[in-house]
Amino acid sequence: MTPQFGPDGSLRHMLSLKGFNRQQLTSLLDHAETYLVGHAHYAPRQPRLLGRTVALLFFEPSTRTRISFHLAALRLSADVVTVDGDTSSQRKGETVLDTVRTLEAMHTDVFIVRVAEAGVPDMLTEHIGTGKSIINAGEAHHSHPTQGLLDVLTIRQCKPDLGNLCVAIVGDVRHSRVARSTAEALQILGVGELRLVGPEPLLPAAAEFAHAERYTELDAGICDADVVMTLRIQRERMRDPAALPSDAAYFERFGLTAERLRAARPDAIVMHPGPVNREVELASAVADGPRSVIARQVTNGVAVRMAVLARIAESLSGTP
Ligand code: CP
Repeated sequence: MTPQFGPDGSLRHMLSLKGFNRQQLTSLLDHAETYLVGHAHYAPRQPRLLGRTVALLFFEPSTRTRISFHLAALRLSADVVTVDGDTSSQRKGETVLDTVRTLEAMHTDVFIVRVAEAGVPDMLTEHIGTGKSIINAGEAHHSHPTQGLLDVLTIRQCKPDLGNLCVAIVGDVRHSRVARSTAEALQILGVGELRLVGPEPLLPAAAEFAHAERYTELDAGICDADVVMTLRIQRERMRDPAALPSDAAYFERFGLTAERLRAARPDAIVMHPGPVNREVELASAVADGPRSVIARQVTNGVAVRMAVLARIAESLSGTP
């Protein structure tokens, strides 16, 4: 049992998808679906977090994750406060733990944290009071569990028979917390085939994704795939980003164009966690084309984060 589950199996923290079983993950995705009305609307505001305070602590840049967690908390009637790494007292030397303790003294209940250092979300769970919760909103290159959830929710909506799917994750898998969390979720749900596609220096060690096939050529890697998920090159996580090929050279070999997408199945969907670097990993014609479900991923992000917050609400201590 990881610290993210209580003794009764309730969700206390959301740290990683490791430790979830298929039933727990499916139940969370089903819960997220209840917040969606078709593909264009969310369910009306609910009182689940009324009287609770949710803090967004983002020490790395974000648009999708931060805004969708913010909207999710508002739609569950929470009060929401934000700490931005660039303008907070972290710039004056305060640690993440002291920032969390400061907000805890203001009776914050849920801390949603994005950090560049691995291990910080787990560490925070050891120091905050019981009945408070930590949610990992992106931790180094290790994990981004709610992104993994929204990715598999999107895949499940478009291609429900996961056991017979071939999913190709293309690009900088080595430095991608999204790839790790999405691959974990796919494995838990029993995906038929998972491929990792990219230049050798951007692929992870084979042992880390023991269940995935590795491809160093795009056409072979996406051949007959049902889902093609492209990734941004994460130069900010590399020791020597200058050693990489230029954007143009990368696009030439691994950029997903409409022509190259023909190697995948005719009904294949194209995903990207965002932000997209157009004409680097993905041609605009594909990003904005009929096979792209990128906007749907974003829509699903709010629903998934509402489900996570609503589950965690059951573990919070005291009356609001
Ligand atoms: N996918 C994702 O984490 O996007 P942001 O960095 O914009 O939050």
